[in-house]
Amino acid sequence: MTEQLIIDGNKSAASDAGTFDVFDPSSGDVLANVAKATKADVDRGVKAAQAALESKAWGGAAPAARGRIMFRIAQALGDRAEDLATLESRDNGKPLRQARADVQVAARYFEFFAGIADKIMGTTIPLGPGFLDYTVREPIGVSAQIIPWNYPIQIGARGVAPAIAAGCTVVLKPAEDAPMTALRLGEIALECGLPPGVLNVLPGMGPEAGAALASHPGINQLTFTGSVEVGIAVAKMAADNVVPVVMELGGKSPNIVFADADLDSASQGVANAIFQNAGQTCSAGSRLLVQRNAHDELIARLTERARTMRVGPGVSDPDMGPIISKKQLETIEGYVKIGQREGAQVVAGGSRPAEQALARGFFFQPTLLDRVLPDMRVAQEEIFGPVLAIITFDDVEEAIALANRSRYGLVAGIWTRDINKAMTIASRIASGQVFINTYGAGGGVELPFGGYKKSGYGREKGLESLASYTQVKNVCVRFA
Ligand code: NAI
Ligand code: MG
Repeated sequence: MTEQLIIDGNKSAASDAGTFDVFDPSSGDVLANVAKATKADVDRGVKAAQAALESKAWGGAAPAARGRIMFRIAQALGDRAEDLATLESRDNGKPLRQARADVQVAARYFEFFAGIADKIMGTTIPLGPGFLDYTVREPIGVSAQIIPWNYPIQIGARGVAPAIAAGCTVVLKPAEDAPMTALRLGEIALECGLPPGVLNVLPGMGPEAGAALASHPGINQLTFTGSVEVGIAVAKMAADNVVPVVMELGGKSPNIVFADADLDSASQGVANAIFQNAGQTCSAGSRLLVQRNAHDELIARLTERARTMRVGPGVSDPDMGPIISKKQLETIEGYVKIGQREGAQVVAGGSRPAEQALARGFFFQPTLLDRVLPDMRVAQEEIFGPVLAIITFDDVEEAIALANRSRYGLVAGIWTRDINKAMTIASRIASGQVFINTYGAGGGVELPFGGYKKSGYGREKGLESLASYTQVKNVCVRFA
């Protein structure tokens, strides 16, 4: 059976009946066959979203009514969490407990933004006697959303929830490597009473469906999460139609660990930040900057941790699952070789696991690269795998300089018991989020998230995200 597109509340085959296979990266087996959206399908999806915007059922609905539908979606995601988590785990390969957490975060996005649907307020601006001036925050319109394969349901919900809370409609293009839970999200939303056309889900290839969506003259906004290269390309497509874009493009985020830190919690935080989702996380803590006199102890702990982690199929709930695809696995292997050639030293992992049982899946071992120098490629480029680049520093100034010596600026972690030091660094680091003695926080639904530098622009998550999905109208009345 083929998984169909969701357009205007209906399941639909692709216009040319094309399909593609989706694989379980734990085994390499085919997981599902999915309709492959064409340019014509994207056009249908955008038109359905435009019509929904004008409809009585959505455009004419009270904000509180939108919120109630969203609360139901949150509830339904929670009720079906186990099925959704299993599907996500098969599709993406991530350990079941991480998939469960992702579904809970997706539900939380709907809950958080459901509550704001009827509280998106304007202002009044004093102009003196005889005038009333006020602003209204209107929905920006049709939001096109192109999402990656690393956190499909979480990133899907992250974009859809604020968009529909603001009264927008959405055309969602999931990644070809893991489109399944985005389709389920579309189905659940319809079951919960979201009117047809408000959320259209069109799996397909990037250069075909993705490009058709980004360049469609009928969209009013674009939210993109993925690589820098494709981000630049879609931003140019959108620019031709004067369509604003939110860009979330990944990073090379540092965890900075001082000798005066609680090394127990720092080592746990550092390991989790790089090995969660097998390092395929935009906000992965992929650079460790460690103070020289803490180096040996911290690396010993991390090595122990990396060597004892259980790597296996996502649904067996290991410590780390496979890489998404053979291609991505080869990229990661290539980077480890590059690092070794550059003079870095593999102190844990560095290759595919030897177990025969894992031979068909796309597995890689948790890997630590020590003696990395700041300008090596493995210190500068996003590897998007379970590979930690370890760089040693001596003092605060050097730590700040190293942290900022990157084209990216998404997240930074600081581990120290000295609050003055931590606050000084937080103020001087070029990064959209800074965490002190923690890294990430429960999915971060409430916390504005986005990049400095090549990590992107615009902010997702939290109330800040609503700026992308609303436009301000100023109304000035003269009454005297
Ligand atoms: P990608 O940037 O190619 O894919 C992201 C999304 O863009 C997918 O939905 C894809 O179908 C779509 N897309 C691809 N080409 C397109 C085009 N020409 N026009 C419109 N849409 C297009 O990312 P990919 O190839 O999966 O991964 C490559 C690298 O990108 C990774 O190794 C990683 O470094 C980075 N990446 C970063 C992510 C993040 O969370 N910031 C997520 C995924 C990848
Ligand atoms: Mg690609």
